[in-house]
Amino acid sequence: MFSLGLTDPLNVLALIAFLTTALVITRLVSNVRKSFQEIEVLKDQLRLAIDTIPALVWSALPDGSRDFLSRQWLEYTGLSLEKGLGWGWTAAIHTEDRARCVDEWRAALATGTPLESETRLRRADGDYRWFLLRGVPLRDELGNLVKWYGTTTDIEDRKQAEEAVRQTQAELAHVTRVMTMGELAASIAHEVNQPLAAVIANGNACLRWLAGEAPNLDEAREAARRIIRDGKRASEVVARTRALSRKTETEKERLDLNEAIQEVVALVQGEVRRNRVALRLDLASDLPPVLGDRVQLQQVVLNLLMNGIEALSAVGDRPRVLVISTQSGAVDQVHVTVQDSGSGLDPQSLDRIFEAFYTTKRGGMGMGLSISRSIVENHGGRLWAVANDGPGATFQFTLLPYH
Ligand SMILES: Nc1ncnc2c1ncn2[C@@H]1O[C@H](COP(=O)(O)OP(=O)(O)O)[C@@H](O)[C@H]1O
Ligand SMILES: [Mg+2]
Repeated sequence: MFSLGLTDPLNVLALIAFLTTALVITRLVSNVRKSFQEIEVLKDQLRLAIDTIPALVWSALPDGSRDFLSRQWLEYTGLSLEKGLGWGWTAAIHTEDRARCVDEWRAALATGTPLESETRLRRADGDYRWFLLRGVPLRDELGNLVKWYGTTTDIEDRKQAEEAVRQTQAELAHVTRVMTMGELAASIAHEVNQPLAAVIANGNACLRWLAGEAPNLDEAREAARRIIRDGKRASEVVARTRALSRKTETEKERLDLNEAIQEVVALVQGEVRRNRVALRLDLASDLPPVLGDRVQLQQVVLNLLMNGIEALSAVGDRPRVLVISTQSGAVDQVHVTVQDSGSGLDPQSLDRIFEAFYTTKRGGMGMGLSISRSIVENHGGRLWAVANDGPGATFQFTLLPYH
């Protein structure tokens, strides 16, 4: 009889073992297949999630080369995946932003700290929009950086709103500057009339030296020189007045702050005399040049000097002293200090005075300090006030040196 040989208990055992093994392997295989399917499903879900995130998504290797760019990234820039991977994506950055943006990315790579960078990216149709690039490093259990994940978010609307605010601020600054110049008009006119009167006097003298049998040419020449000097003085005051009243776009340049201050001082001389203020200049001879907009920074100095003069105008029982000084700070900064011996500030008002429309003066607008502060902050500096030990107040601002 045909026998399966199952009478041998060992054979039965072997068969059971075989069947069990086969079952386990089949299970395992189907599990693996199932997990592969699950992984595929997860992958699809992840891709869907990435493709629906309202941002352009990317990932990069620790060396900074991009190894993934989302569909939107490619659609926005119009670059192909092959073109965009590695460092190819930087071709989409606006040429004016590229060096800075790449530097910021390299700095993040070097330090392993999250990236935050604002830049314009070229759209497929050639338009540019502002984006915020954010990247965070992923580390393994040992703390090794294994990958960067990042998003690139459209911030064009925010940028445009910021630009509108900036524009409005600039216009407001211009209006208040013109108003301050208006307050100064009488003393500036005086500042021009004085040299003009001297021009006339010297002109007459010159004619007299030239008249007669033996004209005194040396004296006549001297008088002519004084005419030229005074004419220049008058035209400089006019030119400065016009420069300060003009409406200008912000234009940051390498600036000699001491010189800019001296020009403003020349404009307030009349007010200083009229209010019997002793104005002292204490300008550092080794002051490094700053990066700034001449007219705007002169507006700050003008505001502080005018406030100082106004705070001194009521002082009757002590000297009316106003000191403007410049110092190069220990840290990479330039300091300007305007100190007066005037009415002073109580501690509660130290911050309020910088609010728009805060004023304690009858005809005051309360815009001077608020505008001055935003100008200084726009220059990367700070403006603040401290009460003096003695009477009066000290205003101080910092600026960055030109590099
Ligand atoms: N040097 C100063 N000494 C005392 N108080 C000052 C001084 N500068 C400004 N203030 C105070 O801050 C307020 C706001 O100044 P500002 O913004 O220039 O506006 P305004 O001069 O039109 O009042 C002033 O009204 C005054 O109360
Ligand atoms: Mg003021």
